[in-house]
Amino acid sequence: MATAFKQIEDEAIEMARSVAYSMPIEDIDMTDSARFVDNTHWAFFERLRKEAPVHYCANGRFGPFWSVTRYKDIMAVDTNHAVFSSEAHLGGITAKDQEDDFILPMFIAMDQPKHDVQRKAVSPIVAPANLAVLEVLIRERAQKIFDNLPINEPFDWVDRVSIELTTQMLATLFDFPWEDRRKLTYWSDVTTIDVSAPDAKMTRDEQRAILIECLTYFTGLWNARVNAAPAGDLISMMAHNPSMRDMQPMEYLGNLLLLIVGGNDTTRNSITGGLLFLNENPGEYQKLRDNPALIESMVPEIVRYQTPLAHMRRTALQDTILGGQHIKKGDRVVMWYVSGNRDETEIENADAFIIDRARPRQHLSFGFGIHRCVGNRLAEMQLKIVWEEILKRWPMIEVIEPPVRVKSAFVKGYERMMVRIPG
Ligand code: HEM
Repeated sequence: MATAFKQIEDEAIEMARSVAYSMPIEDIDMTDSARFVDNTHWAFFERLRKEAPVHYCANGRFGPFWSVTRYKDIMAVDTNHAVFSSEAHLGGITAKDQEDDFILPMFIAMDQPKHDVQRKAVSPIVAPANLAVLEVLIRERAQKIFDNLPINEPFDWVDRVSIELTTQMLATLFDFPWEDRRKLTYWSDVTTIDVSAPDAKMTRDEQRAILIECLTYFTGLWNARVNAAPAGDLISMMAHNPSMRDMQPMEYLGNLLLLIVGGNDTTRNSITGGLLFLNENPGEYQKLRDNPALIESMVPEIVRYQTPLAHMRRTALQDTILGGQHIKKGDRVVMWYVSGNRDETEIENADAFIIDRARPRQHLSFGFGIHRCVGNRLAEMQLKIVWEEILKRWPMIEVIEPPVRVKSAFVKGYERMMVRIPG
């Protein structure tokens, strides 16, 4: 069954290849989420890497922009924060600009020196000593989730496992009321909806109203924590930090959404992606069963292969040259991690999922430079525990239908993936 649906997806990918190579190259707009919901973006990126690795699209969905698609060029942009800005008021970190009347300052969308100060304030959450505490908790919770899964009965892996595990984790990081934890999933999903899409699930006003509800809820938690002794959760860390305690409400909301989306969507989609890739590559699944120690190198390979955030965007602060192209001050520059992670000139056999790669951490999924992911070790730890606990229980979990993918050119993930655990 698993291989049958892979065949259907592979056929769609091949059909997209002829479109990718026949259309005028200047018309390729990778910010079109339709290419991600049906998983047909690969050939477009392949063509851009070969023929126009720093490519200008004048009529993108969100305005004109440069696409940077090769591994080395992406590194060059990501590590050059003096020229390539992340600032929210210049547009922020996604191809789609932040909206002028609803700017959400957050430290991923800040330049120096403010970025560093705020990043430092929350970094203790992933200090080795805290990770050791979290490891015990995550394992206990994963065990409980797995022990309650149905056997021989189809169920949605995304909802029962990936969302539940990452949401529990996030609730722990915020010390968030346990019974309300699915609100975090909801706010995370609402944040990443592209409300300007013709078939958007909600209007811009509805989206904003929900985010303000999120702010109101978290303001209650802030007020309680600021008047209590400092504690180890993220809200308390912000409330007691001299550089963050005077944040305006929209900046508090911005940083909350950063931590909610950062800590939730990405790991969630890696948990789902890993199971999908093993089903699509039965030989790799067999290797894993034969040698569970391969979890160590499989985890970073899952993160590379999934690339949970397809891109990050910057804005040029000055005229500059990249890959022979003249980029002007103010231009929008999109680094396509999803493409760089498949760059054959940098990563051998990049299109293949290989759980025992020699250099599995050679990937762009966590970014590079001053904004490199704060939560990378935590994410890897969660994935490692998930696979250790799965292998202790079951030799095989079958994906029984093609997954339903998220319609976004930013969050690369899954809405649903039906599976069955053979009894
Ligand atoms: C930043 C990916 C998990 C919190 C980032 C960036 C990427 C990323 C691409 C931006 C890097 C850049 O611009 O150079 C991922 C992936 C994850 C993951 C693929 C899981 C597989 C997490 C987790 C947390 C988290 C679990 C939270 C606890 C953050 C934060 C930033 C960030 C706070 C902003 C860092 C800064 O601006 O200095 N992440 N992330 N991430 N991530 Fe993650």
